[in-house]
Amino acid sequence: MKKLLDKLYSTNNLNEEELLYLLNNLDEEGINYLTELAHKTAIHNYNNSVYIRGLIEFTNYCSRNCIYCGIRACNKNAQRYRLTKDEILECVEKGDKLGYKTFVLQGGEDPYFTDEKIIDIVQSIKKKCPDCAVTLSIGERSYKSYKDIKKAGVDRYLLRHETANKNLYESLHPNSSFENRVQCLLNLKELGYQIGAGFMVGIPGQTNEDLVKDLLFIKKLTPHMCGIGPFIPHKDTIFKDEKSGTTKKTIIMLALTRLLVPKVLLPATTALGTIDSNGREKGIKAGANVVMPNLSPNKVREKYALYNGKVSSGDEAAECKKEIEDRIKSIGFKVEISRGDSKVL
Ligand code: 5AD
Repeated sequence: MKKLLDKLYSTNNLNEEELLYLLNNLDEEGINYLTELAHKTAIHNYNNSVYIRGLIEFTNYCSRNCIYCGIRACNKNAQRYRLTKDEILECVEKGDKLGYKTFVLQGGEDPYFTDEKIIDIVQSIKKKCPDCAVTLSIGERSYKSYKDIKKAGVDRYLLRHETANKNLYESLHPNSSFENRVQCLLNLKELGYQIGAGFMVGIPGQTNEDLVKDLLFIKKLTPHMCGIGPFIPHKDTIFKDEKSGTTKKTIIMLALTRLLVPKVLLPATTALGTIDSNGREKGIKAGANVVMPNLSPNKVREKYALYNGKVSSGDEAAECKKEIEDRIKSIGFKVEISRGDSKVL
């Protein structure tokens, strides 16, 4: 076990069989050693900096029906909202005053937000805050759409691949194809975006073999960012009685990802902070180096309910900047307020 982990640390690579062996056999001691190596790798590449991004969840309308997600189109119980351009700009202003230099606009796949509207919003943000980076996370769109939006000044795009097992992907995402998902990521990369892929840990039906596929997918794609969080059930989905993914498994996947792609930007996700009140700290100690506090107006936060119990106040709220900084400092890291561009080539 130790030999394999040392090999991973020194070569930043393992094959399918070796990764599966790790996932099937890691014990507490092995996990501690793995996270130590991941931590060392993060420090080597990013010192002890943790980058902060302001997250703006600007629409929960969604035309897709991802069967695990609380804002899926068919969920009649979801209370839908859209922020206006002015409301989005107010969030940016709030973040700008706090010193944030990256804004992540995330939403469901909402046809209301045409390319024209997105371009207008992005240009207005860049005008207000010329030195900030804008990240979009608005799902699958055409090559032309990604191209036109890029010209407005978007810097980054997050599109998790969710799972690299094609059959599992297609059973979780009705009327969608895994190939298209991957093509979107490749298109975004070709167009010059810094891209973010990523996956859920512990989604019903997922095996260790599938998680190995995720790791190899990430290694091959080498995205600039990789969002990894535990699956958490949502009360209005068929998974309502299923178990969440665990902190332990999520930490293992974060650490392995840090070791396979040493320079990747790796968020300690809200989902990890939701299943475990110290989840984000544990994630950072295992190689994560990004946190994305919520900048959305309080009145809509509860409505962006992808899963039950999503944390959206206190430490999660971007306003509680000092609390966030204190928590990060308390584990020996420092908050980095700069744009935090990726070092992945
Ligand atoms: N549990 C955990 N993560 C979820 N997401 C959506 N629904 C859930 C859920 N029930 C994640 C997906 C998506 C991201 C925005 O949130 O991975 O890409």
